[in-house]
Amino acid sequence: MEKDFTRRTFIKGMAVGTMAGYLGAAGLSSTVFKNQLLPQEKLNQVDIGEIKALKIKVVSETSWYDNNVFLNDVKGAGGLLVNQYTIPWTCAGVAAGYQGSNLGGFSTYIEATLMDGKVMKIHFDTGWNPAWMEKRFREEGVAEKLAKKEIDFMVLSHEHIDHFFGLEATLKFYPDIPLYVPKGFYQEGFDFLKGKSFPAANAINNIPHRGKMTVLDSSKVNILYPGIALMTFDVPIILRVFGEQAFVFNVKDKGLVLVTGCCHQGIISYMEEVRKKVKGGEKIYAIEGGLHISPFEDWDPQYDDLIMAFNKYGVQKIGCNHCTGFITAEKMHKAGLPVIKGTARNMTKRDIYLGNGDELAIA
Ligand SMILES: [Fe+2]
Ligand SMILES: [Fe+2]
Repeated sequence: MEKDFTRRTFIKGMAVGTMAGYLGAAGLSSTVFKNQLLPQEKLNQVDIGEIKALKIKVVSETSWYDNNVFLNDVKGAGGLLVNQYTIPWTCAGVAAGYQGSNLGGFSTYIEATLMDGKVMKIHFDTGWNPAWMEKRFREEGVAEKLAKKEIDFMVLSHEHIDHFFGLEATLKFYPDIPLYVPKGFYQEGFDFLKGKSFPAANAINNIPHRGKMTVLDSSKVNILYPGIALMTFDVPIILRVFGEQAFVFNVKDKGLVLVTGCCHQGIISYMEEVRKKVKGGEKIYAIEGGLHISPFEDWDPQYDDLIMAFNKYGVQKIGCNHCTGFITAEKMHKAGLPVIKGTARNMTKRDIYLGNGDELAIA
């Protein structure tokens, strides 16, 4: 068909329809043609402002210690769509676990320096196993900052066990910490925040949250401070969870930095939404956090496309970890992507990506 395509056919195509019609008739869909022939895409970008500098410290990215134990818990309860508050998660007898428990957790500590010099201190997620999280909070100085109310606010990325069930480890130090949650939390989540426990799932919280809570939805880019924004994604997620939010920072003279929890919205959807909605989104300077590509170390050839996508957005630093998966990190390294190596300390198993206690500084 392409061989028979002539200038006359092209003009005819123009006469009867649109450029898209032409592309369809020609059987062409290459980006080159789209860029040359399709009308410029209208972007509705928001200027979120700028910050001076950003420091991102991985407090804990190890959500659980043995994938098989985790998967057996899920399988035994009936599969990936079962309500996470009803699953008896294994808390004892796991050789590789923390004090025998398979539960770890995800939490990140962020310092964003505003243009006027004020440093905003952000507690991003509260992990899973309260004993493990308290240990890590103490080791990284987060516990002390919480106790002194030096931390400005907590953001919960989503309701998942490994980001949320360790709530007590935060509230015991700072019960009235201001909090941002994404729209989509279930009633159990709000009850848990109020001090209700779910013993069947080993989810215990005896300390009610007493601070201001803001629920953010997906209708707009939520600017918290100049240069600091949150975007919420309406996505159904395994273990009966809904909705995830992630950060967009804009660091002066560097560009946009995306910081994510699990990234259940999908890394391409995340970058695409940022490109469309945030000024400067055509080039993303850095990404940090869980990218949710091969959390269980399986690989599907279609994931290769995800890896190639980072080049399109010009990403210069990738500080991935958590549910990104070691296989993904290995493939990214092989593909020449700028994945930052870590130090494999504090129960992070490999140095292939940023692990517990590692830091990414952008200024
Ligand atoms: Fe996670
Ligand atoms: Fe998750």
